[in-house]
Amino acid sequence: MPWSIVFSLVILLAACQSTLTAQVQSTTRGSATRGSGSTFQGNGSAAQGSGGAKRHPAVDNTFEGRFWRYLTNSPFRYNEWAPFAGRLDSTYKGQSPHGAYVKVIANKMARQNPHKLPYGSILIKENYAADSKTLLAITVMYRTQGANGQPWDPENRDWYYVKYTPTGQVAFSPPEMGSKRLAGRVQSCIDCHSGAGAKDFVFLNDDLK
Ligand code: HEC
Repeated sequence: MPWSIVFSLVILLAACQSTLTAQVQSTTRGSATRGSGSTFQGNGSAAQGSGGAKRHPAVDNTFEGRFWRYLTNSPFRYNEWAPFAGRLDSTYKGQSPHGAYVKVIANKMARQNPHKLPYGSILIKENYAADSKTLLAITVMYRTQGANGQPWDPENRDWYYVKYTPTGQVAFSPPEMGSKRLAGRVQSCIDCHSGAGAKDFVFLNDDLK
């Protein structure tokens, strides 16, 4: 894990701390959010043992708010994360709609089972501008089993999607695409990711043996 990642996360965290309180108040609380919220707590495989979500009570109690804090608020945990599926531990050229440059980081669950991607797998994609340094967005996929006997999205391999701004707000699609809040079962993400090999909705493991 290069220090650059850790460093950028510390920056992110600092930015997040100062802006989150004010910004997240306005986060909407749709049914998808509630559903995924219970999923995160109920399923818990991703959150378990992180300490992140527990040590730092979330200001924003939506799923997205807690998930962001879980992902960013624990430098220790992030240190354990690494590039997914043999990708260089650095940015590489991305493609639309992701950044001109991207970096993919995965939790242990995903790295150890890159084909199966069991429940609890988390894939984070940092989307950078053409200068390969300016972070534009963070897109995340989290495979969840659902909660309270309610599966999450079995027809689409149970991926939860979210796109964050660099300060941890949920991003919206552009007005011409309906200004949709990009969190939950996001149709635009699903439509494109459904084209991935092995029908697992993930591209980066397609060429792996
Ligand atoms: C038009 C197609 C398209 C759309 C829409 C799209 N993606 Fe992707 N996504 C891709 C491609 C292609 C890759 C692999 C690119 C590479 O090699 O880095 C990818 C990679 C990813 C990855 C890394 C795991 C993987 O599948 O390789 C994540 C995480 C991700 N996207 C999240 C999202 C989220 C969240 C959304 C919706 C907000 C979204 N994507 C919308 C095409 C798309």
